[in-house]
Amino acid sequence: MNIIVAKNYDDLSAHAAAIVADQIIKKPNSVLGLATGATQLGLYQKLVELYHQGSLSFSQVTTFNLDEYFGLANDDSQSYHYFMFENFFKHLDIKKENIFIPAGSISMTEVGPYGQKYEAAIKIKGDLDLQILGIGENGHIGFNEPGSDFNSVTRLVSLSDNTIKANARFFSAPEAVPRQAITMGLATIMSARKIILLASGKSKAAAVAQALSGEVSEAVPASVLQRHQNLTIILDTEAAVMVK
Ligand code: F6R
Repeated sequence: MNIIVAKNYDDLSAHAAAIVADQIIKKPNSVLGLATGATQLGLYQKLVELYHQGSLSFSQVTTFNLDEYFGLANDDSQSYHYFMFENFFKHLDIKKENIFIPAGSISMTEVGPYGQKYEAAIKIKGDLDLQILGIGENGHIGFNEPGSDFNSVTRLVSLSDNTIKANARFFSAPEAVPRQAITMGLATIMSARKIILLASGKSKAAAVAQALSGEVSEAVPASVLQRHQNLTIILDTEAAVMVK
């Protein structure tokens, strides 16, 4: 495990962007696993800048997003589809057919086969070269909440109270936060050849410390990452404060 403690959020984003850019330059048809959330915004901005400078092309890149709220249409402004297009994809030369994000608008009966199809699509593309992660205050990755099975794959999950509260900042009221989501599983994430996890701010410090140096336990989903062979953690000083 490689841990980078960045000076601040901008520096954290620059470190992450350098790793992603290096991946794409070495393998232009890379398959990337992407996350949403506030932590990723600096990284996406820096990658867009590199694209505009002509140093990076996404024309052969394929992306698979980790998760989507269940019950939201793709064009809902709170959906992760919307987030990804507004903050990242619409600024790049990535091909629409190479963008995969779980569909939140499918019906309950479609979810089982849909999860299998999402897993199969990742395999068909040759598996994830690089998975980018954020972390929840409760140690979740993707929407794999505490108690998630380490063998889990893409599926429908219920969000924990902690996550609903944390994500209420993006909605008009806590009641407006969807209660369920479709997420890649912990086994899906662990199958990536390389993983980077970004965490910023003191609200993440306890989860980061538990994930990196605590017991490997389904109570802290991110702790499964200790078993990955090619993991880089990028923290700012506040998120790193409890790491021993
Ligand atoms: C979202 C996702 C989540 C977030 C996590 C941190 O796609 O995978 O696990 O990474 O909830 O979110 P922020 O960055 O908003 O603190």
